[in-house]
Amino acid sequence: MTTKDELLRKIERRQATVCVVGLGYVGLPLAVAFAREGFPTIGLDVDVARVEAVNRGDSYVEDIPSTLLAEVVSSSGHLHATTDYSALDRADAVLICVPTPLSKTKDPDVSYILAAGQAIGRRLHAGMLVVLESTTYPGTTEDLLLPLLLEEHARHHPDGAPLVVGRDVFLAFSPERIDPGRTDYTLRNTPKVIGGMTPACLEVAQALYTAVVEHCVPVSSPRTAEMVKLLENLFRTVNIALINEVAIMCDCLGIDVWEVIEAAKTKPFGYMPFYPGPGLGGHCLPVDPQYLAWKMRTLNYNARFVQLAAEINFQMPRYVATKVADALNEEGKPVKGSRILLLGVAYKPDVGDTRESPALEIAQIFVEKGARLHYHDPYVPTIELNGQSFHSVELTETTLADADCTVIVTDHTWYDWTWVARHARLIVDTRNACRHVREPRGRIVKL
Ligand SMILES: NC(=O)c1ccc[n+]([C@@H]2O[C@H](COP(=O)([O-])OP(=O)(O)OC[C@H]3O[C@@H](n4cnc5c(N)ncnc54)[C@H](O)[C@@H]3O)[C@@H](O)[C@H]2O)c1
Repeated sequence: MTTKDELLRKIERRQATVCVVGLGYVGLPLAVAFAREGFPTIGLDVDVARVEAVNRGDSYVEDIPSTLLAEVVSSSGHLHATTDYSALDRADAVLICVPTPLSKTKDPDVSYILAAGQAIGRRLHAGMLVVLESTTYPGTTEDLLLPLLLEEHARHHPDGAPLVVGRDVFLAFSPERIDPGRTDYTLRNTPKVIGGMTPACLEVAQALYTAVVEHCVPVSSPRTAEMVKLLENLFRTVNIALINEVAIMCDCLGIDVWEVIEAAKTKPFGYMPFYPGPGLGGHCLPVDPQYLAWKMRTLNYNARFVQLAAEINFQMPRYVATKVADALNEEGKPVKGSRILLLGVAYKPDVGDTRESPALEIAQIFVEKGARLHYHDPYVPTIELNGQSFHSVELTETTLADADCTVIVTDHTWYDWTWVARHARLIVDTRNACRHVREPRGRIVKL
């Protein structure tokens, strides 16, 4: 029996040990999914606190309730987390879900992939499948990860025969598409794109993922799969930038952009609604297109849509701050000394993630301008702004009535907007959250 057939048999019998490297928003749900399907699953992370939390059955990711985590950790015992890379010695499949942020100069920071790749390469063994899930530029799996794995393996096994990809070991890229906080599309019913280094790599990776997702979408290579993910996120980024600019143009023209979108989206074909907002946030949309732009720069190509979209989206927090200043001005108040209350600081509704959240930049602008800044977010107890800690205030009638301006930044479903509008004196609504409010206490200024 070939190495590939043996691995396929282990997968089919749920005997393959799956190791998920990086237990964050992406890795933890993935590890739980394999453990729930009965695979012996190892969660590997460098963060001791996260590893301990997982082993206690204490979830730190909104989409994974602690009861569910506890079930796979304690009751079935299928999932165990560790910081010890030697656990890879018994892994049959390794799924890499480490961060891919930007450096200070907005270039890709692949140091986490390199660190994980090095550690995996040291323990690479025949019959092992490695899949990169972290979002990255086209070519990472083939040009960066593959040589790293093979070189590290050769360095640590100088006397062994070199491993051949597609025969002894298997390598693929499969982008993660989950949308944290979403309940209609989950890991299971979101199709999974997979690109293998060889047909055998694709076959093995597809066999594994079929256990946890309903539908796999095979593509011809890892670099194609890498580009698929970037296209999806670039599509969103560019369309959000487009509608943000349309919002600014509508404002200049005295037209309500929200009304325009509602009417435009009645067209049954050729139009898909996107909505303006206070700016782009999260770990993906502000970051991923820059990976593509960087890769294209190495090929002397300027990714113009990426640059333009970034320019428009990144100016939105400042645009919101100007709207607030204008709204206060109409009431005869300067920003300095005014009490400004931000509602929602997470980067999107119903999650507690503030990474790259435009709310932080908006807050920073008001702090610098001398406003008395407060915020409320049901999911974010504390934020840090230039080394200063701010705590979420209790949201009461008095808090709203005391604020000179209430700024709706993130429209968590937790909020009762009618109640908010009944007590707030002045609202700047960046999400059209108050669209159904009938009798507000004061003015509501829309984006
Ligand atoms: N969060 C999302 O919504 C989302 C969606 C799709 C794709 N992605 C992509 O998935 C990847 C992971 O994102 P995330 O949001 O889960 O990140 P995260 O920061 O929530 O989690 C990453 C985890 O990796 C761990 N880690 C870092 N270096 C490690 C190493 N060398 N070995 C083991 N563990 C290590 C960190 O401690 C952390 O727990 C990124 O490339 C991201 O772009 C994220």
